[in-house]
Amino acid sequence: MRIAFAAGLCFLTLTGIAQTKKPAPKAAPSPGQQIYEQYCLTCHQADGTGVPNLNPPLKQSEWVTGDKTRLINVILKGLQEPIEINGETYDNVMPAHDFLSDKEISDVLTFIRSNFGNKAEGVSPEEVKKVRGGK
Ligand code: HEC
Repeated sequence: MRIAFAAGLCFLTLTGIAQTKKPAPKAAPSPGQQIYEQYCLTCHQADGTGVPNLNPPLKQSEWVTGDKTRLINVILKGLQEPIEINGETYDNVMPAHDFLSDKEISDVLTFIRSNFGNKAEGVSPEEVKKVRGGK
């Protein structure tokens, strides 16, 4: 029984390796996804569903797919006011991420606007630059 289990595990591991190796150059995560994983995932979660009563979801959020200037400002300035998303109220602190470059912000926003079931057009570095400059 044990041996069968161990053999089974071995087999799974091997097929696991074979699978990760097979489709040779597996597409690396996009720059936007990498930034998301590094700076946003801990709070908003890998699937963008957030944490109930704490961190709002990015999935089906008007804040994500709606007005770009408002969205860019959330990243540049953070957010600390009660907001309502899908009938749930959130009032926690989103820290400012103005240390990210215009390109990094455009990448991560383009990522969240086109993932988690969202389908909004991307954000360009120029758009971020404009909002950062207050124009
Ligand atoms: C420390 C936790 C934390 C981190 C890190 C964080 N956020 Fe947030 N975020 C929040 C909280 C909390 C709110 C809601 C703030 C409020 O209620 O005023 C929020 C709100 C938002 C909103 C608007 C509301 C919504 O859910 O659509 C967006 C968009 C957003 N965050 C995107 C991001 C992105 C992109 C990153 C990474 C660059 C990020 N956040 C990093 C906690 C975080």
